[in-house]
Amino acid sequence: MEPIKVGLLGFGTVGSGTFTVLRRNQEEIKRRAGRGIEVARIAVRNPAKARAALDDDALFSLVTDNFDAVVDDPSIGIVAEMIGGTTIARDLVLRAIANGKHVVTANKALLAVHGTEIFEAAHAKGVMVAFEAAVAGGIPIIKALREGLTANRIQYIAGIINGTTNYILSEMRERGLDFATALKGAQELGYAEADPTFDIEGVDAAHKLTIMSAIAFGVPVQFERAYIEGISKLAAIDIKYAEDLGYRIKLLGIARRAERGIELRVHPTLIPAKRLLANVEGAMNAVVVHGDAVGSTLYYGKGAGAEPTASAVVADLVDVTRLHTADPEHRVPHLAFQPDSLSNTPILSIDEVTSGYYLRLRVADVTGVLAGITRILADSGISIDALLQKESEEVDGGDETDIVIITHETLEKNVNAAIREIEALSTVVSKVTKLRMEALN
Ligand code: HSE
Repeated sequence: MEPIKVGLLGFGTVGSGTFTVLRRNQEEIKRRAGRGIEVARIAVRNPAKARAALDDDALFSLVTDNFDAVVDDPSIGIVAEMIGGTTIARDLVLRAIANGKHVVTANKALLAVHGTEIFEAAHAKGVMVAFEAAVAGGIPIIKALREGLTANRIQYIAGIINGTTNYILSEMRERGLDFATALKGAQELGYAEADPTFDIEGVDAAHKLTIMSAIAFGVPVQFERAYIEGISKLAAIDIKYAEDLGYRIKLLGIARRAERGIELRVHPTLIPAKRLLANVEGAMNAVVVHGDAVGSTLYYGKGAGAEPTASAVVADLVDVTRLHTADPEHRVPHLAFQPDSLSNTPILSIDEVTSGYYLRLRVADVTGVLAGITRILADSGISIDALLQKESEEVDGGDETDIVIITHETLEKNVNAAIREIEALSTVVSKVTKLRMEALN
């Protein structure tokens, strides 16, 4: 049988990695897919740059700067979108779908923001949109959630799904660095981009979490409902105090089935240091999925990079090659649940989320200060799990000290109300730093 022809849109890290892996492993891939998979066109903004990256002059003719020509080419069966962003990529993906082509994409932002429109278009046209590479790079988490765990009612997902921030947090903890210094180091080593905003402010993680939440709970992708807090304001002292109390701080994406809805949130989170997730260091990714039948499962690996991401893209190309002749109704649904069976369970606002809390505040070292604070917490129905008071000599030489309080699980809006009362006390001389914590047990 003739190989299925792929049009690559973009030839950056992921596009060129995909090209390399497909060529290197072509024999095994063919034996798995039942048919060869061949890159027939490569569309790029700068053809000279792409040609320079190809090691064989005979391949130069594949390269074009005409993206529309690739998406419209009748010989192309699968369009692999590796451009990124939500504008040109959206137009090209929708055009490919309208032309009856299957799409493979690594674009998390595109699916988190425009997923509903794209999946509806694909469903109407009977084509597949595959996106394993969009979440946690090489970790086959989409496959696991959508197929391997399909028997389960998923209770929660908690993931380290951004390598840049995990690298920065590891550096801050291991070397006692502040955020700005750790970010600069990450940029020098190529772990963080020149404009790191999407990574450090949690947006990239929220894109990935939004996609996973849809597959886990059978709800539409709702990026606009995600609560997002990054790590740029995280102080080195909190990493240190958390460690003193037996916790590590990670940027977690958490999607949880709660009583009144679904929690969808990305923020720095204290987790007990003995948990496997707490020991995922450097740029690695890991995702815990807890299902009612299976219990907790953990997926670990590289969340970025040319070949780890290509591993996921090629897996999707193989899936599409195997399934493109199947009746569309018999394929695995894009978001795991049948499109007419999506649920309208609400995404909860952050006020309605339940969590443990880490509270740090600076107080005057005078009689009764602690009693005043604990009274407010008790009156608010907030139970204290652990408490740390530094010797004032250690903190500022004598007059003031830091208090750190860890609470049991409670509603976020109750904690916020208690914090307002605590900050109004005359003995409290700082704002309260609040971080959320998860026991993950
Ligand atoms: N920038 C991402 C990360 C990889 O640092 O994990 C691509 O989503």
